[in-house]
Amino acid sequence: MSSFSSNNTAALAVIAILAYMYFAKRQSSSQTSGSVFKTSLIKEEFLPFELIDIVNHTEDIATYRFKLESETHKLGLPIGQHITIQYTYKNPESGEESEIIRHYTPVSLDLETSGYFDLLIKKYPKGKMSQLFRDIKVGDHIKVRGPKGFYNYEKLLPKKKNLFMVCGGTGLTPMAQIIRGVYLNSKHNPLLDGISNFDETKITLIYGNQKEEDILLKKELDELVAKMDGQLSVYYILDQAPKDVSWVSKVGYADKELLETAGLKATSEDDNETQVLLCGPQGLVSGMKRMLTSDFNFPRVKPITKMEDKVFVF
Ligand SMILES: Cc1cc2nc3c(=O)[nH]c(=O)nc-3n(C[C@H](O)[C@H](O)[C@H](O)COP(=O)(O)OP(=O)(O)OC[C@H]3O[C@@H](n4cnc5c(N)ncnc54)[C@H](O)[C@@H]3O)c2cc1C
Ligand SMILES: *[C@@H]1O[C@H](CO)[C@@H](O)[C@H](O)[C@H]1NC(C)=O
Ligand SMILES: *[C@@H]1O[C@H](CO)[C@@H](O)[C@H](O)[C@H]1NC(C)=O
Repeated sequence: MSSFSSNNTAALAVIAILAYMYFAKRQSSSQTSGSVFKTSLIKEEFLPFELIDIVNHTEDIATYRFKLESETHKLGLPIGQHITIQYTYKNPESGEESEIIRHYTPVSLDLETSGYFDLLIKKYPKGKMSQLFRDIKVGDHIKVRGPKGFYNYEKLLPKKKNLFMVCGGTGLTPMAQIIRGVYLNSKHNPLLDGISNFDETKITLIYGNQKEEDILLKKELDELVAKMDGQLSVYYILDQAPKDVSWVSKVGYADKELLETAGLKATSEDDNETQVLLCGPQGLVSGMKRMLTSDFNFPRVKPITKMEDKVFVF
């Protein structure tokens, strides 16, 4: 940082003040992202967004950056919600075309990002939307509408004492958004000095993957664990043991013992302190639902969950 010129320092100070004003405004208002900045999304209409960058992480996982209307525009997505992408899929064998839609949770946040949004995508060999992300080039456009979803973290009031998250693979993306949102509004965010109503929600994340290379945003998560000083705990579980297992909480599936180690306690009817959030492969989600009911006294989880529920499935 010592190489920064005074001009840069002044510019940073201005950015810090603007960011501060933005956070302060959001703290004192229950309005969503659209209240201060111009936003780009429309609920009922697919709009084109231009791809401006791709960063590969592995052969089938990459971050795609899309441009908004101007550098000051924000996407307009409340924390916890997702966007819908439409694509004309072409069957490679028959050549037959069909319109498909899929849902994605950006990993960038309106709280701290203007002018673009980022999608972290895993491509599947035979996946239909995966075809779009395999073929897309910088300069191409995708069709997006939103926001959508039953969970809107900004409207979750009062905030929960604990959020207990269990996810697998790209199921991390809604969790990552909420974790980042909590951090930005927590006392650990240096830009928030002086604001008193911090978000004090304690977050436990149990994150499962097949192998080490599949773990998304590991560096970002580990940095937040360090910065948040006990407010965030992360438990990695893997199907295949890596060379160094010291940072892995379990090789195999999440079981009762692991959830207990991570601090989950049996709930009771009048206990509203902890909410469990689930996202990921069908097997993980249904297994967790069963375990929460049989081993932790949670009510049976309905097929479609609402933000008020003790267990929410994205
Ligand atoms: C709220 C929400 C947020 C999401 N956020 C993200 C995100 O941020 N990033 C992300 O990458 N994904 C995210 N997803 C998942 C995403 O919506 C898609 O499901 C995913 O990208 C796969 O879509 P696809 O069309 O490529 O695959 P699909 O064509 O739907 O197929 C999915 C997988 O199933 C296999 N498959 C397809 N048909 C069959 C069949 N008949 N039998 C057996 N296997 C089959 C495919 O080979 C592929 O492996 C999210 C989902 C939800 C609901
Ligand atoms: C990213 O990966 C894709 C597909 O594997 C490849 O075509 C592309 O060249 C890669 N881009 C970079 C910048 O490495
Ligand atoms: C839990 O319930 C009590 C009593 O109804 C209420 O005062 C409190 O705000 C609730 N807390 C949360 C986190 O929902």
